[in-house]
Amino acid sequence: MNDGPVQNARIYYFSGTGNAQWISQWMAASMQVHGTTVQLENIDKLRAQSNQTGPADLIGICAPTHGFNFPPVVLRFVMNFPQGKKQKVFICNTRAGMKAGRIFLPGLSGIALLLTALIMCLKGYRIVGLRPFDMPSNWISIHPGLKEKVARSIMLRCKTKAESFAQKMVSGKKDFRALYDIVQDLLIAPISLGYYMIGRFIFAKSFYADQHCTNCGLCIKNCPVNAIQMVEQRPYWTYQCESCMRCMNTCPERAIQTAHGFVFGVFYLVMVLFLNQLWAWLLQLNNLQLNQLIHHNWLRFTIESVVVLFFLLLAYRIMHSLLRFKWFEQLIRLTSLTSYRFWRRFYGKKYRFAPTTRDQQESVSG
Ligand SMILES: Cc1cc2nc3c(=O)[nH]c(=O)nc-3n(C[C@H](O)[C@H](O)[C@H](O)COP(=O)(O)O)c2cc1C
Repeated sequence: MNDGPVQNARIYYFSGTGNAQWISQWMAASMQVHGTTVQLENIDKLRAQSNQTGPADLIGICAPTHGFNFPPVVLRFVMNFPQGKKQKVFICNTRAGMKAGRIFLPGLSGIALLLTALIMCLKGYRIVGLRPFDMPSNWISIHPGLKEKVARSIMLRCKTKAESFAQKMVSGKKDFRALYDIVQDLLIAPISLGYYMIGRFIFAKSFYADQHCTNCGLCIKNCPVNAIQMVEQRPYWTYQCESCMRCMNTCPERAIQTAHGFVFGVFYLVMVLFLNQLWAWLLQLNNLQLNQLIHHNWLRFTIESVVVLFFLLLAYRIMHSLLRFKWFEQLIRLTSLTSYRFWRRFYGKKYRFAPTTRDQQESVSG
């Protein structure tokens, strides 16, 4: 086992809106400066070519955090990774970095790094680095996009960190900075399961294209998981959507929205008109076993989540058809926070940080 300087490295990345791609490129550039040959591999493209891996002394995996875990597309990629022979691996996640005044606020990794590290260990690799990077949050379904100045300052801070981490990795050192957060990461682990089982589908069924959509098909073409289809001459988000935010942040017409009013409306109606009545009726039956089951918080929460999801999937399809009526489209748009100018977008790929080589510039567009 060679723990000295690394001759060649291969970094696999997945990026919805550019953050993980920037981190991978900054790391690659920093490694190249130190004489290491680096190959950057976009997981999107690899899946299309089903050409997964190649030899390397050092392997890197870098992807965004989604619901306190890596997105399913990345987990699938890691699960299908070939068995290793003690090669060195580092794993990085980008998280939702924010800024309050001058204070930089970190995101939360949950099990993103821990689970991936476990899978890679079981496959026979040797973990040498685990590192989160708090890049600007792109999750504009739940908060307005950050101002460009704020996003840039958060990114520049991460650039320095990514470069110094990369240097450590190629000089044979170890860095487990991620483990500082292990207590909080394990405490929120159950939420990552909830997001994986339920939450991601709810977000997937919150996107729609408003009247400004020109049917250019860019969202469909760019979707990394082929989750968007043209249905009734309008983009339609299938449950395969991973909410990576690429479509919403790159739509040239700013026509893709999160239907906040619709989701909350369905949630409210299902809870108040259906589930609350159902529980009340079941309690009236005075069956001891049934009563015990109903008062079991986790079970009740799970049943409610599944029922809400079922009705949301149904209502989403109906909403999609009704969007052709102007009055309905306006109602949905007025209750979508993302349709207001103040909400902004996150254009992670547009920032320019002078990539060092032509190859890297090309991989930005790739
Ligand atoms: C659906 C979704 C879920 C997210 N969940 C988390 C999370 O659990 N923790 C966190 O710190 N950031 C979270 N974020 C923020 C992203 O991880 C963060 O902005 C990341 O840098 C985006 O990287 P990308 O531009 O490469 O896609 C989430 C973003 C999205 C869109």
